[in-house]
Amino acid sequence: DEVRLRCLLDEAVGAAQQAGNLMLECFGRSDAPGVEEKTSVADLVTKYDRQVEDLVLARLRACAPDFRVVAEETANTEELTDAPTWVVDPIDGTTNFIHRQSECCVLIGLAVRKRPVLGVCFIPKMDELYTAIKGHGAFCNGRRISCSGCEDLTKALVNLHMPSYSRGPKVVERILGVTRDLLAHPVRGVRCGGSAGVDMIHVARGRLDAYFEVGIYPWDVCAGAVIVEEAAGVCLDTMGGDFDLSSRRILVASSPKLAQQVAGILQRQRYDTVDAE
Ligand code: IPD
Repeated sequence: DEVRLRCLLDEAVGAAQQAGNLMLECFGRSDAPGVEEKTSVADLVTKYDRQVEDLVLARLRACAPDFRVVAEETANTEELTDAPTWVVDPIDGTTNFIHRQSECCVLIGLAVRKRPVLGVCFIPKMDELYTAIKGHGAFCNGRRISCSGCEDLTKALVNLHMPSYSRGPKVVERILGVTRDLLAHPVRGVRCGGSAGVDMIHVARGRLDAYFEVGIYPWDVCAGAVIVEEAAGVCLDTMGGDFDLSSRRILVASSPKLAQQVAGILQRQRYDTVDAE
C-alpha cells in the first residue's frame, strides 16, 4: 500500500544518497577507480560499482528482508519473479564514471509482478535526486517533473546508445541504419548516450524526447520506467509493443504519437534482437 511504499522509498533514497557520496569521493581522487572488463571491452566494472552495490543491498535487505534482489554486479543471476523485487544498478553509466563524466547515476527500482512500481535515480555530479511511486507522480529534488509532450519527430531530440554487447557487422549495420533513417526523416537531432538511467531521466524532465536501446537489462531501466511513466511519458518495446522488463528492449518517448513514429523506424531496421552477429 501507499504508506509502505513511501517508507520503502525513503530507505531507497537514503541508500542512493549514501552511494552517490561514494561516487563523488571517487571523482575527487586522482587514482584510477580499478577498471575491469566483464563481457567485452565496452562492458566494464570498477571497485566502486561493487562497493556501492554492497552498501545499497545491505540497506535494502535490512528494510525489507522478505524481498528478492536482482542487481547488476552480485545478484544478476536471479530471474525476475512475481514477488516484490529490488532491481538495482549501483552505477549506471560505468564507462562515463570511469571517464569522470557527470552522466552516471545510482538506480534503485522495485518491481512487483514484474512491473516497476517505485523508482529512485540519483545523479550525484548534478545533485539531482529523482523519485516516483506508481500513481503518485515523478519528482526531482522534491519538485514535480513532466515530459516535453513532443508529438512530432521533426521537432524531437532523440538519444540512442551504441551497442555494448556486440560490435559484429550486423549489429553495427543496424545501428547505422537506424541513425540514417532518423536523420533522413528528418529528426531535429540525434545524440548518443552513456547511461540508460540518465537518458530516461532526460526524457522524464523534457530535456530529451526519446531514447531507445536493445541489450539493456532490468536494472538499467526498472527505476527509470516508473519515473518516465509518472512524468506522463511512455515506455514501449522497440517494436512498438508493450514494455517488458525482461525483454532487453526499450523505447522511451515523451508521447504515444512520438513513440510510434520512432518504433516505425526501428521496425524497418528490425531493431529487436540481441545477437552477436
Ligand atoms: C550501461 C549503460 C549504457 C547502456 C548499457 C548499460 P552500466 O549500464 O546504461 O549507457 O548503453 O546498455 O548496460 O553497465 O554502465 O551499468
